Amino acid sequence: MKIREDFTTLFGVNPDLVASAPGRVNLIGEHIDYSDGFVLPFAIQARTYCALRIRSDERVRVATNQNKRDVFESSIAELKPQTGPVWTRYILGVLWALDIKVGVEILVDSEVPSGAGLSSSAALECSVATALNAHFELGKSLTELARITQRAENEYVGVPCGIMDQSISLMGKAGHALLLDCRDLSTRQIKVDFESNDLKLLIVDTRAHHALVDGGYAERRTQCEAVAKELGVKAMRDLSIGELETARTRLPELNYLRARHAVTEIGRVLEAVKVLEADDFDTFGNLLTKSHKSLRDDYNVSCPELDLAVDTALNLGALGARMVGGGFGGSTISLIKSDEAAKVAVEIERAFSKSGFGSPRFFDSLPGDGARVESY
Ligand code: GLA
Repeated sequence: MKIREDFTTLFGVNPDLVASAPGRVNLIGEHIDYSDGFVLPFAIQARTYCALRIRSDERVRVATNQNKRDVFESSIAELKPQTGPVWTRYILGVLWALDIKVGVEILVDSEVPSGAGLSSSAALECSVATALNAHFELGKSLTELARITQRAENEYVGVPCGIMDQSISLMGKAGHALLLDCRDLSTRQIKVDFESNDLKLLIVDTRAHHALVDGGYAERRTQCEAVAKELGVKAMRDLSIGELETARTRLPELNYLRARHAVTEIGRVLEAVKVLEADDFDTFGNLLTKSHKSLRDDYNVSCPELDLAVDTALNLGALGARMVGGGFGGSTISLIKSDEAAKVAVEIERAFSKSGFGSPRFFDSLPGDGARVESY
């Protein structure tokens, strides 16, 4: 395995073990994990690999193939939130959140493109957590690891993300999407087989990344929390659309719209599971498109590049399309008849060029497995 050789070249010793964890796309259920909702992501084939060796002292040395393998060095006792160059924090944060007390050497290598909305951060955190959990025989369950890696990102990195990305990176199963209840982290694996139905899920990385990302995400969270507080419920999960409509005049209009997205999106996820299980891909596609409109119009987290990729796919007959992930850039998914996927990609590329946007990247990925130890 290449990362073993790279590790040995870099640190002059062999790693103790290599673990890996995947990125994700979310079929439906966007921006509702932090509102205690339901989400339906699947793990993609692209993975992040973590090679790890335990040291006999307190030194921590970390490097990534994505950053010229420059080694960042610290003492394990000195790790505290928001210390270390930004790229190292996803690794150091996991050491911190797992309360590791001895030194380690870590090299990571990622196939998950960063900034594409495919959750390269969670893939990185979960590959490190899986390696540490196995090596130190910590015995943490996948649910515990999801909470720990989320804490690493919330507190050490300083990003107020929800629990979806870490959960799917840890719990993904080939051929399935994960129905995750973000309140209690209970799960159900839902079979996803687009191929046998002559369908393809085209992932388009728009390569757009807008500055709004961080503030915009936190602001949406705060708006949903404000509505919950005003209406006396724990989270958007506990609100019906009827109750929300009745309370509309008590809420600032923008907050009402945010809540409307959250409440309707939760409903769409549950319906999407039903229709997927019945192989009703037309209705499933419609739900994807409705989700996009709600994210665009009520939640305002789309952007011109995402809208163009979605609209182009829909104009060419896609069954459904929507943005995925946090938004303000990143990727879209489109459900397309297999033999039309190539044409759709060409047309999206052309539309981007015509609008003066940079060239998008295309992926298609079958649902893959979650985090695992690769080798000792
Ligand atoms: C990011 C966050 C997730 C989730 C999505 C939006 O990926 O990390 O927790 O909130 O945005 O669904």
